[in-house]
Amino acid sequence: MKPHLGPDRVRIAPSLLASDFADLRLEILRVENAGADWLHVDVMDGHLVPNLTIGPPVVAAIRAASTLPLDVHLMIEDPIRHAPAYVDAGATIVTFHEEAVVDASDAARAIGRMGVQVGMAINPDTPIERVVPFLEHLDLVLVMSVFPGFGGQKLIASVLEKADVIRGREGWEGDLEIDGGITAETLPLAAERGFNAFVAGTAIFKSGDIPKTIKEMRRLAEAGLQASAL
Ligand code: DX5
Ligand code: ZN
Repeated sequence: MKPHLGPDRVRIAPSLLASDFADLRLEILRVENAGADWLHVDVMDGHLVPNLTIGPPVVAAIRAASTLPLDVHLMIEDPIRHAPAYVDAGATIVTFHEEAVVDASDAARAIGRMGVQVGMAINPDTPIERVVPFLEHLDLVLVMSVFPGFGGQKLIASVLEKADVIRGREGWEGDLEIDGGITAETLPLAAERGFNAFVAGTAIFKSGDIPKTIKEMRRLAEAGLQASAL
């Protein structure tokens, strides 16, 4: 039986990377008041990915400014070593990259022991089969639909079929998240495949009307998830 994820499982996760960092508290309030489910926080180290963004002190400041779950996406090398700082800063979900670890099982269990939800992310060119053996240790699987490093890129549609492998398996009903190039146009393609968590930076923060955009994304996600179960 395919897991049936109802509309209550939709998670709209605005990526703060596309927000105005000089006005972070206001940007957080904007998406929080507009009905966002999670705040997606992109942590980049300039090594695993070619960009450098924010560290634990900023995550702590975000934590203090919002009551929403913090979906912390670690695009960094040595995530086991660095994860505790993000846990202490208030992360709700800590997601490491498959490409950054030698033993994904070790990484997932180590982060789980820190008392947070655990996610594992894969780049567009990493097969989904690299995730499957570790599902029992994971609360979330993050499928990158762009090569990580920058917002504002175009979704690579060939990654969408990775959802079939995860949603086709019995016994795992965690969150399946897609990240990169999600807009009102591309979101339905992902929801129809069974993704239930949607990261969107540019499409939300650069839209003229954030409440309208989030509401529309939720409507499309609910309809898509419904279709995915048919
Ligand atoms: C890319 C990041 C994404 C990014 C998404 O490396 O992981 O979360 O901010 O941005 P958009 O929605 O603009 O593609
Ligand atoms: Zn991200």
